[in-house]
Amino acid sequence: MLNLSFVFLICLIESVAASTPDAYILSTQSLPPDLNFMPSLSNGHLGYTVFGNAIFMNGVYNGAGGNSRRARIPNWINITAELCDPAGCQVNNEYTDISYEMDLRGGYFKYRKSYASLGLTLEQRTYPHRYYNRALVYELLAYRHTSIPLSLDTQYLKLSQHPGKVSDAFNFEVLNNGSFVLEDYRILRGVTKVLELKQFQPNPHEIYVIFSEPLEQPRILDWPMGQAELRHRIIICMDRQQTVAQKELQDMFQLSPAAMLQSHIDAWTDFWDKQFSIEIIGDALELSRIVNAGIFYMASSLPALSSNQANEPYDGLSPTGLARGNLDADYEGHSFWDTEIWMLPVVTQFNYEFSKQLLDYRYNHLEGARYNARTMGNRGARFPWESAFTGTEVINPCCLEIAQQEIHISPDISFGLQKFFAQTNDYAWLCQRAWPIAADVAEFLVSRSACEDTCHFLNVMGPDEDHSNVNDNVYTNAVSKIALDFAVWAGSKCSNSSAETFEQWRQLRDKLVILHDAQLDYHPQHSGYTLGETVKQADTILLGYPLQFDTSSTHLNDLQYYANVTRATGPAMTWSMFAANYLLTKQDWRAHEYFARGYQNYVHKEFKVWSEVPIGYNGSANFLTGIGGFLQSLIFGYGGLDFARAGDTSQLQLSTPNVPPDVQQVRIKYIKFAQSKCVWTFQHSVSNMICTGQANQSFELLQGNQRTPLGHSFNVTLNRGDPTMHINLIN
Ligand SMILES: *[C@@H]1O[C@H](CO)[C@@H](O)[C@H](O)[C@H]1NC(C)=O
Ligand SMILES: *[C@@H]1O[C@H](CO)[C@@H](O)[C@H](O)[C@H]1NC(C)=O
Ligand SMILES: *[C@@H]1O[C@H](CO)[C@@H](O)[C@H](O)[C@H]1NC(C)=O
Ligand SMILES: *[C@@H]1O[C@H](CO)[C@@H](O)[C@H](O)[C@H]1NC(C)=O
Ligand SMILES: *[C@@H]1O[C@H](CO)[C@@H](O)[C@H](O)[C@H]1NC(C)=O
Ligand SMILES: *[C@@H]1O[C@H](CO)[C@@H](O)[C@H](O)[C@H]1NC(C)=O
Ligand SMILES: *[C@@H]1O[C@H](CO)[C@@H](O)[C@H](O)[C@H]1NC(C)=O
Repeated sequence: MLNLSFVFLICLIESVAASTPDAYILSTQSLPPDLNFMPSLSNGHLGYTVFGNAIFMNGVYNGAGGNSRRARIPNWINITAELCDPAGCQVNNEYTDISYEMDLRGGYFKYRKSYASLGLTLEQRTYPHRYYNRALVYELLAYRHTSIPLSLDTQYLKLSQHPGKVSDAFNFEVLNNGSFVLEDYRILRGVTKVLELKQFQPNPHEIYVIFSEPLEQPRILDWPMGQAELRHRIIICMDRQQTVAQKELQDMFQLSPAAMLQSHIDAWTDFWDKQFSIEIIGDALELSRIVNAGIFYMASSLPALSSNQANEPYDGLSPTGLARGNLDADYEGHSFWDTEIWMLPVVTQFNYEFSKQLLDYRYNHLEGARYNARTMGNRGARFPWESAFTGTEVINPCCLEIAQQEIHISPDISFGLQKFFAQTNDYAWLCQRAWPIAADVAEFLVSRSACEDTCHFLNVMGPDEDHSNVNDNVYTNAVSKIALDFAVWAGSKCSNSSAETFEQWRQLRDKLVILHDAQLDYHPQHSGYTLGETVKQADTILLGYPLQFDTSSTHLNDLQYYANVTRATGPAMTWSMFAANYLLTKQDWRAHEYFARGYQNYVHKEFKVWSEVPIGYNGSANFLTGIGGFLQSLIFGYGGLDFARAGDTSQLQLSTPNVPPDVQQVRIKYIKFAQSKCVWTFQHSVSNMICTGQANQSFELLQGNQRTPLGHSFNVTLNRGDPTMHINLIN
């Protein structure tokens, strides 16, 4: 009987391990020296860094104005099991083997300690449940080895909690102490201490935390002799409502531990199989792992697409995700232009729903943005440089002038809206969501501009934050022209506002200057910029990719000039943008170098966690912005894919592909276009896209001067040297 159950157990472990391909397993025998670079685990509602001191809940911030930051909940799921000595339970640390593993396909972290002399192993696993998303789970599995005679002794296992110091963001009150004997749960109620801005947040945040068992004191588990294995699980549920947290725990207890884990793994497997994955063929296991980890860390911060109880509105994807956010280095968990410019283009490929929710976050905070405009004497909506719970400006008090000057965030959001429309062709969404934002952004731009014969934005700061208080930053002006053009067009579809309003937007669009040095044929970054001045990060070069604003030979000159003067310590996505732009200008040899530079120095080897700045400098941990830039350079740069609004319809563009060195082929499942789902494969000299659509939508291919109807589903192949393909949706 004993042996049987043991054999069964081993099979179970083997089969789980065997089913996960190597490219989804990150394993190591030793931890990163800085534990900030442990994996971040989130499910869109809750997030934490493995072994870290904090749990965060979507939308829960504490602190006034620029001091508002994600409210730290002590990391109560940081639970450890240790083997005890029978005499007095001194912890036995004489394990002979230890290994840590992040399983990206299953969405969990586990580690294993073996004690050879005792013939047993402890395996501990932790994850935020992707379907029961109010819950965090800790599981212990202890088993005795067959090859060694079963230890006769009873063993003792000590479970203890290491949540870090008391939280200074909440006042916690014990509603119920819980008890093992009565099977009664421990329940806490936490209330945040400081409002962000009373006018927009009348009440503090209130959260409820329910523990499947109290663990303020360590607990000793007996593992009787002769028993092959011991399993134990601890679940902690949190929500703004006590009833929701309580129901989650009760529903989970209806499931066996194995079924509960399986439903989590199924949710993640479903994502990789049915929503999005990138398969890289070639001598590229390390690159594949980095790509998969990047997708995982980004997607896990986003809301669960299917959950046991309805999700709350999603409150923004900040540069270090939901698992971090109380440190200045985590940008306090605020949202920036990073969302729309660096992450959104990738997030839209995962699932339209994710991007809708990210853009809904902006829509839901239009009132805050209008308030920001008014307080600075402008009309319309001025989105905050840093946004948290209320959508009013929460820039760190260190750097107030950035919020006043980096006005490109508002047109960046309009750019993101247009990009999303270009891919989805969702007119209902356009009029309900995009149009109200685009209109208010256009109004803001008009009121912020200075016009005579030509129009200017004075006293601004572009993405290059090393140059403050400049006039006519070329990126700001270019993205504003795009935002104004989109507003004029969306207005013609969605509104009967006065022609006069549209005319003002059109005038500004046409009269905003784009600086150009005719002699050197390049775009000076701003008025008064002289060649040779160092810049912080990609700024003017963004006019090519992603803006598609200038793709002429001037753009190639911009690339050559700015490549020489960009700070070496700049953020990762700067190099990814050089790579994408050099690919689009067919300077492939340069692109390969920048592509490598865009990740190799930024990814920590153990769990492929990203740093904002090159390794060795202190910066943000698990920098999703860098991941976004990197994945964009692979998908849109190497792949040669883009989307654009072509008049009233949506257009997919496919230009000559390439692949990074040592890669033979990249296969992406699935790229979405309108209501189609596409399998896309590209190699050095050929790109093939197979799209399956709906009967009520059809497409047409424009290539060179040929026009070919494609029907609702199509299979197109582009060979190196062929003219760019433009595939239009015909409504
Ligand atoms: C969390 O647990 C790990 C492993 O026991 C420990 O190394 C770490 O210090 C703990 N974290 C905190 C914040 O106590
Ligand atoms: C919980 O236990 C503490 C310490 O024993 C006690 O002071 C408190 O009254 C108890 N709270 C409840 C709600 O039972
Ligand atoms: C727009 O048209 C609708 C009906 O067609 C009308 O009810 C509404 O008042 C109009 N709005 C404006 C601003 O003219
Ligand atoms: C960039 O720097 C390299 C090496 O210093 C130099 O050879 C090249 O001419 C420079 N390019 C431009 C466009 O300034
Ligand atoms: C990075 O930060 C850690 C503490 O967070 C500090 O100990 C270390 O000295 C810093 N390193 C650098 C290079 O600034
Ligand atoms: C096309 O049909 C699908 C169902 O087959 C439906 O969901 C969708 O809304 C339709 N789209 C358009 C543009 O009519
Ligand atoms: C797509 O087209 C390519 C090249 O014409 C062909 O080899 C392939 O079998 C087609 N695939 C499907 C699924 O039709």
